[in-house]
Amino acid sequence: MAAGEVTAVSPTLSFSIERMTEHDLLEVVEIEERSGLSPWGWDAYHKELQSPEDVIMLIARVVVADANLNEGRGIAGFIVARVVADEMHVNNVAVRSEFRRQGLAAQLLQTVLECGRLAGARMAFLEVRAGNKAAQALYHCCGFEAAGRRRRYYSNPVEDALLMSVSL
Ligand SMILES: CC(C)(COP(=O)(O)OP(=O)(O)OC[C@H]1O[C@@H](n2cnc3c(N)ncnc32)[C@H](O)[C@@H]1OP(=O)(O)O)[C@@H](O)C(=O)NCCC(=O)NCCS
Repeated sequence: MAAGEVTAVSPTLSFSIERMTEHDLLEVVEIEERSGLSPWGWDAYHKELQSPEDVIMLIARVVVADANLNEGRGIAGFIVARVVADEMHVNNVAVRSEFRRQGLAAQLLQTVLECGRLAGARMAFLEVRAGNKAAQALYHCCGFEAAGRRRRYYSNPVEDALLMSVSL
């Protein structure tokens, strides 16, 4: 799916994958906080948005939904990646809990990988907490394989990272 296209996951629920803008950041940070990710916060996302040539920052916006679900929840998930030379690094991906297991993260990830490939990246890399089995399953689904381990990479709580990669 290319950024800008709309995909339906049920008769009442559709998403549009779009480039993230400054106006999305409050919601992105809220989703980050609720998802238990190592926090970047508003300033870091804002700074990242200032390098549009290198970064690929996408959101999945709810287009059609049950009125109750949609209230104040225009963004269902997001992904942030950066291309340096011929390598892409996927930094953060998260989906609101009520929209999980509907293929949304996989669509965000596949779209970001395609954007990276078009930007000249030949490999994509990411780190994931060794205990985060849901994220690891997602990455396997999108072709990533374990490529190494970084001891005590994360803090709060301290945990190893698995390094994963996929050829683009
Ligand atoms: C990980 C996360 C982004 C997945 O989002 P999602 O939209 O639910 O994922 P998808 O629906 O696209 O899942 C695609 C596939 O990944 C795997 N997967 C996703 N979540 C899973 C889970 N909780 N348990 C097992 N497998 C899972 C499945 O194979 C799934 O396909 P299936 O539903 O057909 O079986 C979401 O759980 C999340 O936001 N978690 C908190 C933040 C986080 O951990 N981010 C990753 C940091 S490295």
